[in-house]
Amino acid sequence: MRRRVIAGNWKMFKTQAETRAFFKAFAPLVSASKHCDIVTAPPFTAIPAAVEAAKNTNIVISAQDVYWEKEGAFTGEISTSMLVEAGCRYVIIGHSERRQFFGDTEETVTKKAKAALAAGLTPIVCVGEHLSHRESGQTHKVCKTQFDGGPGLLTPDEFSRILIAYEPVWAIGTGRTATPEIAAEAHKFLRQCAAEKFSSAHAAALRILYGGSVKPDNIKGLMAQEELDGALVGGASLDPKSFASIVNFTS
Ligand code: PGA
Repeated sequence: MRRRVIAGNWKMFKTQAETRAFFKAFAPLVSASKHCDIVTAPPFTAIPAAVEAAKNTNIVISAQDVYWEKEGAFTGEISTSMLVEAGCRYVIIGHSERRQFFGDTEETVTKKAKAALAAGLTPIVCVGEHLSHRESGQTHKVCKTQFDGGPGLLTPDEFSRILIAYEPVWAIGTGRTATPEIAAEAHKFLRQCAAEKFSSAHAAALRILYGGSVKPDNIKGLMAQEELDGALVGGASLDPKSFASIVNFTS
């Protein structure tokens, strides 16, 4: 059985002081939660505060992006070793907002994932279709293009160390969640892509998180689908009580 992961993506929210306040409230609410891995992805500047606050807890810290070069004249970028030194264990790669506003492509997703893996970070690689794709019946085509051109280009060993997040763009921040059945169908398709590119063992072991308006009141229904191995949560991960009740969906 694949171990579940509940990850919070804070996007461009929270200062260091707000981060410390969040963990003070959140950590006790999930300290007894053993059924899943708990990940929080603050913005870069709040990572050290988050790592410090999450020490001796069951919460690990992720970054929201990374650059693939080791170092150099790349103004504004952050390297994998900087994230590792800061205490990150995961990194989100190819989030739809990075693809839409900051030029991430399949090619940069692959480069970032390879660099992250080489540094010992666990990439959470995001894929997902826009509303126009879904309405024109192109969901599989888009997911396959993003899969084949991104995680599909990793080596089998590299692939066995990543997580994928299926995030339909029309469900992100819109309050419009994919139904558990729609999400499960897309996850099944991505697992099939993994079986075709790698092996059925790789596909069976791959953890695929669902993201897009996950809230305390829909997490249970989503997690009832065995294709869904966890969630990547945006807005609802900013409030300690709301994120804790998502983590504690089993209770
Ligand atoms: P949301 O964001 O939960 O606010 O829809 C999810 C994400 O973008 O990862």
